[in-house]
Formats: sequence, C-alpha cells, structure tokens
Amino acid sequence: MTSTAQAPSSGARTARPDHLGHVIFIAAAAAMGGFLFGYDSSVINGAVEGIRGRYDIGSAALAQVIAIALIGCAIGAATAGRIADRIGRIRVMQIAAVLFTASAIGSALPFTLYDLAFWRVIGGLAIGMASVIGPAYIAEVAPPAYRGRLGSFQQAAIVIGIAMSQLVNWGLLNLADGDQRGTLLGLEAWQVMLGVEVVPAVLYGLLSFAIPESPRYLLSAGKRERAREILAEVEGQDVDLDARVTEIEHGMRSETRSSFRDLLGGSFFFKPIVWIGIGLSVFQQFVGINVAFYYSATLWQSVGVDPSDSFFYSFTTSIINIVGTVIAMVFVDRIGRRPLAIIGSVGMVIGLALEAWAFSADLVDGQLPATQGWVALIAAHLFVLFFALSWGVVVWVMLGEMFPNRIRAAALGVAAAAQWIANWAITASFPSLADWNLSVTYVIYTVFAALSIPFVLRFVKETKGKRLEEMG
Ligand code: GLC
Repeated sequence: MTSTAQAPSSGARTARPDHLGHVIFIAAAAAMGGFLFGYDSSVINGAVEGIRGRYDIGSAALAQVIAIALIGCAIGAATAGRIADRIGRIRVMQIAAVLFTASAIGSALPFTLYDLAFWRVIGGLAIGMASVIGPAYIAEVAPPAYRGRLGSFQQAAIVIGIAMSQLVNWGLLNLADGDQRGTLLGLEAWQVMLGVEVVPAVLYGLLSFAIPESPRYLLSAGKRERAREILAEVEGQDVDLDARVTEIEHGMRSETRSSFRDLLGGSFFFKPIVWIGIGLSVFQQFVGINVAFYYSATLWQSVGVDPSDSFFYSFTTSIINIVGTVIAMVFVDRIGRRPLAIIGSVGMVIGLALEAWAFSADLVDGQLPATQGWVALIAAHLFVLFFALSWGVVVWVMLGEMFPNRIRAAALGVAAAAQWIANWAITASFPSLADWNLSVTYVIYTVFAALSIPFVLRFVKETKGKRLEEMG
C-alpha cells in the first residue's frame, strides 16, 4: 500500500515500555480465552472413566460424546469471525465467556448422557469462538514490532490451560482416593473436574470489560474518535495518529467487505491467502500433535510405565510444551515466523521418524524392547518440543495477522474451523490406525511434517514487523 503514514517502520521496536505494559495486560486478558481452550479441550481426558462408569457406556459411545465437542468447536470458529465483524471483538469474548460458564455448570450437573453431550457441544462452541477471537483481537491491538510475541500469548495460554487441567485432574483424583467417581463436595470427582472451569470462565468474562475494543473494528463501524484514542493507548503518542487512522481507513476502503455469500463459496474461497491459512491449520494438526496429548497414556504404557504413573509422564510432556512455547516467544519477532516454522518441521520430522522406527519393533507382553522404548520416549518429547517452538505458536500468530483487515475475522474463522475438523480427523482416526499399524501411523505424520517444509517455503510469506495494513 502506498500510504504516507509515519507509522513505525517494519520491525522497529516503537512502543515505549509504559505502553507496552498496558498492551501486555490487554493481550493477556484476551488470551484467557486460550487458557479456557486448552483447559476445556484437555480436562475431559481425566474425566472419561468417571463418565463411563456413571452412564455405563462402552468406549465407542464415550468417544462420540467426547468427539462431538469438536463439532461445536468447528461451528464456533466458523461463525465467530462473522459475528465479530457485526458486533465487535469484545462482545464475542463475552458471548464465549457466557457459553464457557454455562457449559462448565451444565457438564458438571448433567441429568443424562445427552445433557452432557449437549453441554460439551456448548463448550465446544465457546472454544471455537475463543480460538478465533484471541488471535484476531491481539493482532489488531498489538504494535507491529511486538505482535508476534503478544500473539503468542494465545498459544502460551493454551499450553498452560492444558497443563493446568492435568494438575487439577490429578489433585482432585488424589482427593477422591484415586476414583473418578469418588465423592467430593457432594459430587463425583469427574463432575468437579468439569465444573471448576467456571472460575476461569467468569474471570474471562470480567476481564473482557476491562479491555478496549479493537481500533480496526471501531473504524469499520465508523467510530473514529474512539479508535483514535485506543490507537494512542496501544501504539503510543509519538505515532502520527491521524496518519495511522487514515492508513487503516484507506486500507479498508480500497477493498470491499466480504459478504456472507462470499464466505459460502463465492469470491472468498478464490483468494489464495484463505487457502494458505487453511493449509497452515491442516498441517498443524496433521503432524499428529494432539495424539501426543490425548493418547499419551497408550505411549507410556507401551514403554513400560505403570498406568498409575502415567499422569506424571503426561505432565512432563506439558512442561516440555510450555518450555518450547517460551522459546518461540523469544524468537518469533527476532528471527521471524517462517524460519521458526521450518526449524520446527525439521525437528518434528526427526522426532516422528524415530517414533515410527521405535514402534516398528515387535511388542513383547504389550511392551517395546528397552532400546526402542527409550527412543520412543525421547523422540516423543523431541517432537513436542519442536512443535511447541514452531507450529504451535506460529500458526495462531500468523492466522491472527496474515489476512487483510477486511477479511481477517472471517478468514481466520474459516481457517480455524478447518483446524478443528483436521483435529477431529486425526484424533478420531488414531485408535483404528494404531490398532492396524502404529509404526505406519507415525510414518504418515512424518510425511505431513516433511510436506509442511515446501508448503511454507513456497506459499507462506513472512509477516514479522509488517503493519496489518500491509498484509494480503
Ligand atoms: C495448538 C493446537 C492445539 C494443540 C496445542 C498443543 O494450540 O492448535 O490443537 O492442542 O497446540 O500445545
């Protein structure tokens, strides 16, 4: 774009620390949605045995109750962007907070299995919405030089949410003498696991009242003065605000807004950038990351870990996930998104290929031979580390920033919906694939990790340091 704006030049670290403190608070508050995303999608793993016992159902029915939440996620993601364009980013956070709260209470106190499935879908809708609104909003309020780091708050919150759910489940299970149906506070332990989510859900709702609306949304809604004030808050007084406002408005005027028809199959889907977003999402899931989280107990048991210790080992995976995320936060604005993604893909190929090799050995009494067992353990951690320092952070950051202003929310919604469908495809197919041939299953994930390299090199443009008005 040919603006004369005196906005910060690419990559310049312009926000003064006092502004930065405020922007950090804003990004952290919005990232509470990411915490709930991580917590909610992982808490169910600790509650399944309790649910199975309470409703006396088989594995297949149980798997469906769990998987159905992912459909809610896809619908929530697909619609959140459109709603955010109509009523604003903050309102969407508030709707998500209400849905999270209702789902926590409803899932903790279901009368029947159908009630539980219903409330899980409602929770899924909230997760899907939070997965879209966090990255979009943070990208829209962050100064360009810090946008990667602030955007990675979302993924940091997701991984902390996953770790927290494991800790809460472990703590509650211990209090209930190791029985997911043991009584706590007059409820069964699994009900409490699902119910305590009400605390972060309410906090998310309250925090959403303490942060400002996105200046880009306000400009699209014609609220120029308020947008100007917020830009001053987040980009600092030394920036030429009039020029920034003009630049953003000019960017929006030069392109027509996407209509709902566009979204349903018109010109929207002819835009390569939308497909690149979908591609990033699909690769992020097709490397099999959630298999490492949802089915970790299977892995630990095949290398000889006692099932009662599997919490400890799953938690180490979460710690590695957090460490990798911190590494990404340090580097995402320094070396950029593309190099991180490539480094991560190379590391993931190595980790996954080693897992494929380890699981090609014949099991003896359901366990791998010692050497392969160690290789599998180390390789699984290596894989999670490299995912966390690359695709975990990079994809959510890029989805928040890579689209032009006018289609950002809607395009991010479509890409995130694709991600939830891909997540479902991988996690639902894993048990059958693993029964058939675990080694080949890992070969498939290795191939996707390898293919992600040419995909990034060929199609993904660096977004580090650019203003949102320069995207597209
Ligand atoms: C990313 C993925 C999510 C995964 C998480 C693991 O956020 O989108 O599916 O569970 O990373 O850290």
